[in-house]
Amino acid sequence: MKFLSTRDSLLRISAREAIVKGISDDGGLFVPEYFPTFDISENLNLTYTEMAHKVLSLYLTDFDSDELLYLIEKSYQTFEDEIVKVACQKDYYLELYHGRTSAFKDFALCLLPNLLAYAKKSLGIKDKTLILTATSGDTGKAALEGFYNTEAIDILVLYPTEGVSDIQKTQMDSTASLNSKVIAIDGNFDDAQTAVKKIFNDEAIKKELKKKNTYLSSANSINIGRLLPQIVYYFYSYANLVNNKKISVGDKLSFCVPTGNFGDILAGFYAKQMGLPVDKLIIASNDNNVLTDFFTTGTYDANRELIKTISPSMDILVSSNLERLIYHKSSAEVVRAKMRDLKEKGTFTFACDFSEFLSGYATKEDTEQTIKKVYQDEGYLIDPHTSVAKAVVDKLGLSKVAILSTASPYKFASSVLKALGENPVADEFENIKTLYEKTRVKIPREIGKLKGKKIIHKTKIKKDEIADEVLKFAGRGKRISVPATSANLGPGFDALGVAVGLYNTCEFKLTNDDEGFRQNLKENLIYQAYKKTFDTYKETPKPISFDLDADIPISRGLGSSAACIVMGIMAAFLVMGRDIDKKEILKIATAIEGHPDNVAPAIFGGTIVSILEDEEVFLEKMGISDKFKFLALIPDFKLSTKEAREVLPEFYPKADAVFNISRVAMLVLALQSGDENNLKIALQDKIHQPYRYKLIPEIEKIEQIIKESDVLASYLSGAGSTIMLVLKADDDISEKAIREKLEILSNSYQLKALAIDKKGAFII
Ligand code: HSE
Repeated sequence: MKFLSTRDSLLRISAREAIVKGISDDGGLFVPEYFPTFDISENLNLTYTEMAHKVLSLYLTDFDSDELLYLIEKSYQTFEDEIVKVACQKDYYLELYHGRTSAFKDFALCLLPNLLAYAKKSLGIKDKTLILTATSGDTGKAALEGFYNTEAIDILVLYPTEGVSDIQKTQMDSTASLNSKVIAIDGNFDDAQTAVKKIFNDEAIKKELKKKNTYLSSANSINIGRLLPQIVYYFYSYANLVNNKKISVGDKLSFCVPTGNFGDILAGFYAKQMGLPVDKLIIASNDNNVLTDFFTTGTYDANRELIKTISPSMDILVSSNLERLIYHKSSAEVVRAKMRDLKEKGTFTFACDFSEFLSGYATKEDTEQTIKKVYQDEGYLIDPHTSVAKAVVDKLGLSKVAILSTASPYKFASSVLKALGENPVADEFENIKTLYEKTRVKIPREIGKLKGKKIIHKTKIKKDEIADEVLKFAGRGKRISVPATSANLGPGFDALGVAVGLYNTCEFKLTNDDEGFRQNLKENLIYQAYKKTFDTYKETPKPISFDLDADIPISRGLGSSAACIVMGIMAAFLVMGRDIDKKEILKIATAIEGHPDNVAPAIFGGTIVSILEDEEVFLEKMGISDKFKFLALIPDFKLSTKEAREVLPEFYPKADAVFNISRVAMLVLALQSGDENNLKIALQDKIHQPYRYKLIPEIEKIEQIIKESDVLASYLSGAGSTIMLVLKADDDISEKAIREKLEILSNSYQLKALAIDKKGAFII
């Protein structure tokens, strides 16, 4: 299978090349040279990933088949519930929002990064890829998650300031990956998309990027790697309806798709071309009904004001994927002429038989009324985009249509609440709560965790500043991320440690500022660790500057000094051109820190047992049962490790030593088995906690609060002052109860749920 450009059918490239390039140099989009057939009647009982493998293998013929299956399985593991849930109401709703970011975009964007990384590797492409993506709300976050800290791929997302929902904004702006940047631009989605397309065709920028060994690619549906995975759910949901006896195999089924950029519905067109018994493909638009007009009059006219609607992901006037359909219905020559007209006049005409399509649009009132009607009549909750589709189905007088439900209602809580007759408030998280209380529809995991997340991206620019931002982003230095750690875990003094999801990150660059470097060396642990590493290898340190973003609080027993040490050493390895050998890094880090229990998990991630003997570190990584979760009780006061070590006795009674030996052995096993009772008894300690707890003001009151809650056990994290609570993973109540009780204490405490970090330190 080769892929051609919609603007040059003589250009023939492989799937891997098409995915790597994203968009053709002539401005065209890649399309398959023919449509392979896929007989659904012979494939009714496949799992989603098996079907994805079969369908995609027909297009990705230059991918190794086993490798492709592995990539597909790995990608779809990120889904929370069923991959596609078909809700059989009066119509059939294909719930496509159970992926990581609660929108149908997850179908392609969990997979595309893996396809791209494979394609680059197998084609021997070493250059850095810069994914440049414009978003009307959903693509951005799905792409940011898909490309989260992906090696050698950076991602820049642009969204229109006023064109996305608050939840979509928070989802994007809180993305913490080191390879990403999110920018809000003045203007609407079309402005963002046009600017992105312009940059793709800007030779000067491409040349500048080349100097930085960087090339541009796209995660928008202009990339064929975005479109192909979406074909699968048309086949899969058809099979699901057959298997559930809602239709018989061979029956023709109509699909209604809320569409803006025409990608999702085009995937349905591809499925039909491949042999799926599709009756009509119904194009549903909101008030920006440029597609409805085109399919009814043959004239595409983007010369109109973009209207801000309650289905913002479809607030689009220039529908990119239409170009592909026009190509399939005509030729590259026709496409070139039409796209020239569109660029120059904002309009074009194209007469053609579109009898496989129907189209219609829904106003804001239609959309709101339909949300209310479907909920009242059928007890089924839909988001405004899905509602646009359902309203169009009703307007056209159709029934038993498969409606693509493209996003979770919780992404648009205020609009949905308003449609249901409630009064939404300014705080969207309150609206989510109210919507849940009213409907009891499960809140998607990621949206539930969004509240209180740190906003990382705050850049706002004008649309003519995009090119500068792209170059600035591409010119960034290397970045390092190191997790926080919680050492000792009660009885495992100086031997046990776990990496947790709180990070110090930095960007660093070599500098000519010798004086500044010397000054930093005097007072900053990162620079000192950097120099120490050069000393270890008897090399002269090159002046460097670190731009640190520290989320790990200092002197709170969460390994902030370990993180700084590891960061400095890793930077030194990179500057010296040494391979990132984590064992070597551990050796140097332990020499600086004095004990390995923090630095080891900071470097390797996960839970680690470590022993320092004769300057050599021995370690084992162990798993922790997912029955437990960690909650850090972080006070506003510091406790220095030096002070906390000085209060410890030189010698211990034999009984205390025996006490700890048995506890630590039990702890290692209980953490793995998930046995709550054993964990409770095993987290006790007689070696350091009894002495150190005396340094914590009001410790008795804190212990009382912990005792009164359902916390399984607690321990002093590292040398303190943080106290770590271990809870049952599904205990959502204790956290709230403890938070309320903390108010009686004179010091203020932060209560922070911390996931276990399994990756450890890394460089991007
Ligand atoms: N094991 C160390 C201690 C951790 O408890 O002192 C703090 O660096």
